[in-house]
Amino acid sequence: MTANVAERVQHEGLRAKIMPAEQAAEFIRHGMNVGISGFTGAGYPKAVPAALAQLMEAAHARGEDFTIGMLTGASTADDCDGVLARANGIAFRTPFQSDPTLRNQINAGAVDYVDVHLSHLEQQVRFGFYGKMDVAVIEVTGILSDGRVIPSMGVGTNNQWLKSADKIILEVNSRQNILLEGMHDIHPDIGVPPHRKPIALTAPDERIGSPYFDVDLSKVVAVVVTDLPDRNTKFAEPDDNSKRIAAQIIDFFSHEVKMGRLPSNLLPLQSGVGNVANAVLAGLQDGPFDNLTGYTEVLQDGMLDLILSGKMLSASATALSFSPDALDRFNNNIEKLRSKIILRPQEVTNHPEVSRRLGVIAMNAMIECDIYGNVNSTHVMGTKMMNGIGGSGDFARNAFLSFFVTPSVAKGGAISCIVPMVSHHDHTEHDVMVLVTEQGLADLRGKSPRQRAKLIIENCAHPDYRDMLKDYYARAEKAGGLHTPHLLNEALSWHQRFVETGDMRVK
Ligand code: COA
Repeated sequence: MTANVAERVQHEGLRAKIMPAEQAAEFIRHGMNVGISGFTGAGYPKAVPAALAQLMEAAHARGEDFTIGMLTGASTADDCDGVLARANGIAFRTPFQSDPTLRNQINAGAVDYVDVHLSHLEQQVRFGFYGKMDVAVIEVTGILSDGRVIPSMGVGTNNQWLKSADKIILEVNSRQNILLEGMHDIHPDIGVPPHRKPIALTAPDERIGSPYFDVDLSKVVAVVVTDLPDRNTKFAEPDDNSKRIAAQIIDFFSHEVKMGRLPSNLLPLQSGVGNVANAVLAGLQDGPFDNLTGYTEVLQDGMLDLILSGKMLSASATALSFSPDALDRFNNNIEKLRSKIILRPQEVTNHPEVSRRLGVIAMNAMIECDIYGNVNSTHVMGTKMMNGIGGSGDFARNAFLSFFVTPSVAKGGAISCIVPMVSHHDHTEHDVMVLVTEQGLADLRGKSPRQRAKLIIENCAHPDYRDMLKDYYARAEKAGGLHTPHLLNEALSWHQRFVETGDMRVK
């Protein structure tokens, strides 16, 4: 046994259960529900999924069925979702994914996918909506001599999977920084109604739980030791559209501070994943706001840099998902960051109660919105799944201020992201406060549907589509039904035109 293994697996009984990933994967059989750790490319198991995929391929070659139901915190990465999807090994998946192979299988009807608010999932598993959980495969940073477990870069649903599963496989990843120990705050259990107590967080940097997972050691059937890296994809430099969107949001913050609706250090920031989100956070680096805080789901490069520069005091998240450069910055500064970043279960980071109490500012990207402010975050042309709703709904409904952002057009201008009627609803007009594209910003608060339509078309739509939208709206008004004017036989015709011709514009 190397010194590294002795340091990472201190519990003697569990050391005796160390085995190769290939052997551990054999605990997983066809038809099982498997709870896998992982949140946006962080903290997912890397060795067992690859070994499991090989077992699946071998079974398929023998003409046997071998698929699983796969439950995670959110997306994983190519060496987890990807490798299992390519082995045709996933029959059912929840709650969020972003893997291209899996996405194609979902859209081909080969995989049943349940797209669920991230804050709901653990409760739904506790109450058995998905059947029983057979095995949990959880990446961890280390195991203490008394059996308590140090979580890794992502907490997600891990605590619940450890409790729900009949059998547990722990993947101890020695590449995860041992100084992560102490950065987690694992709330013991939010309980079940009607016996729930408040989640006692009144500020993002408070701690209400333990830094460790408590695990029923009798359920641990295997310990696999790896040093494989997280996915850590690089972010593209923010493009012009992202920078324009970010600049408008920052101006809007200044306006809200001037109006006395936001304090000068704003309110805790929640930021969705992706380039626009990172551009907003990068913009805050040079902005006039100090002593910022974060109460978010995934903490990425932008927020890390705000903390490192001293602009942000602290942030709470469920996972750390960094580019390779940012991961280096994180590891090089972990001593300083340990007291400023807190990682919690997603049931707590995404909990409506806490978002509402803290007055979170939510900023999330979307696929499209309509002229009344309804938002589609998930479906392309109403039928094809992109990724999933993730935590966007958890935050949007309960935030003090809820932004949705998108470039005004997609696919080189062939698609308008502002449409007469969304082809799929994720966030209704009631949960959407401010829409921002590179063209402009529409503050929908306090506005009736007809007032909203005029603002959204004028401020957010791309010039190529503005007249088409005005024409649609004018004819809808003439048709009557003047609270939310629509032409029902035409409302989705832009999508239909794109499906038929590859362009929403009338040629
Ligand atoms: N119709 C069809 N396709 C569209 C589209 C539209 N209206 N708008 C964007 N797209 C396509 C883009 O062309 C791009 O496709 P490509 O990958 O083939 O190039 C893809 O969708 C992603 O768009 P992009 O503009 O690069 O945005 P993004 O990477 O920021 O992703 C979402 C946008 C909505 C897909 C993404 O934010 C998401 O999955 N959101 C839901 C979950 C969420 O909000 N999570 C955070 C909560 S904490």
